[in-house]
Amino acid sequence: MFYSLARNAMFMADAEKSHHFALGSMKLLQHTPMSLLWRQQVASKPVTVAGIRFDNPLGLAAGLDKNGDCIDAFGQMGFGFVEVGTVTPRPQPGNDKPRLFRLPQANAIINRMGFNNKGVDYLVENVKRAQYKGVLGINIGKNKDTPNEQGKDDYVACMRKVYAHATYITVNISSPNTPGLRDLQFGEALDDLLQSVKNEQLDLQAQYDKYVPVFVKIAPDMDLVAVEQVADTLLRCKMDGAIATNTTLDKSAVAQLRYGQEMGGLSGDPVRNKSTTVIQQLRHAVGADFPIIGVGGISDAASAQEKLAAGANLLQVYTGFIYQGPALVKTIVDSL
Ligand SMILES: Cc1cc2nc3c(=O)[nH]c(=O)nc-3n(C[C@H](O)[C@H](O)[C@H](O)COP(=O)(O)O)c2cc1C
Repeated sequence: MFYSLARNAMFMADAEKSHHFALGSMKLLQHTPMSLLWRQQVASKPVTVAGIRFDNPLGLAAGLDKNGDCIDAFGQMGFGFVEVGTVTPRPQPGNDKPRLFRLPQANAIINRMGFNNKGVDYLVENVKRAQYKGVLGINIGKNKDTPNEQGKDDYVACMRKVYAHATYITVNISSPNTPGLRDLQFGEALDDLLQSVKNEQLDLQAQYDKYVPVFVKIAPDMDLVAVEQVADTLLRCKMDGAIATNTTLDKSAVAQLRYGQEMGGLSGDPVRNKSTTVIQQLRHAVGADFPIIGVGGISDAASAQEKLAAGANLLQVYTGFIYQGPALVKTIVDSL
């Protein structure tokens, strides 16, 4: 009820302004009694994946709380895990505005934010302050002005800063909004990056005496051969899991809608089948035991179940949450 009122008001305003207003309010109120506006109990549905125990399999996807300002608020909503970021070594402003568009007829969003974030140090300070005791993923990327050849240095720099504070780390190589980033998903570039990430993870494990799993987030815009190649590299480099998928560049399904031809990545209902297909293909290629987090167009119990049936062990939501708010978390978790 509260969310539908708030949503109606926010949907009348510019998408990015609404986003900042919502997050700013949550940041201010998350440690006050006003957090009752979104606080809720969800069923306990514990699962253990990649050696981590999750209270339930539904998480918040990366990109909504890029700087980790509202970790406690999202925990209070009943998510089984919260992923913050994408964060880069240095702060950066992202692309020019406008860069975020709602397509309500399609339950979709197009964004070309471009990793706008306040930098890894700011995020780590927020994580240190948070009271949330659940599973926290920290999603890392590279700065826009770092050439791809040096991209791995950015990922390694972020790993060193976040390792002590994360339950898992996500290596994001699938945003369509950082030029050339998706090239890191293929061939030698992927191999080289993930070997560096693995070496760093093992060094940090020795240093901190704890093992923090690393997941790799991939795009939905891949054919079967590409998915199989990625799967092969993930296994060879001993990655701990995959997150499938990020947003799609295929906007054919929304071309006739207002904003449907904006540049950027499309999320929500129109990416649902694509991401399910990638999850199925990936599951087939990696075998039964490799952890997969399914994300893309989950908006109800049926679409959540579909991702699990395709082979996902865990789930995340972003766009469905924007349209439905905290009630979606309860609906899905209680249904599982
Ligand atoms: C506005 C917006 C910003 C996003 N930013 C990020 C990001 O910084 N890092 C990331 O890994 N994914 C990011 N994503 C992708 C989501 O985490 C998710 O993978 C994708 O939207 C598909 O899920 P959905 O259909 O539930 O939204 C972003 C998505 C949206 C809509």
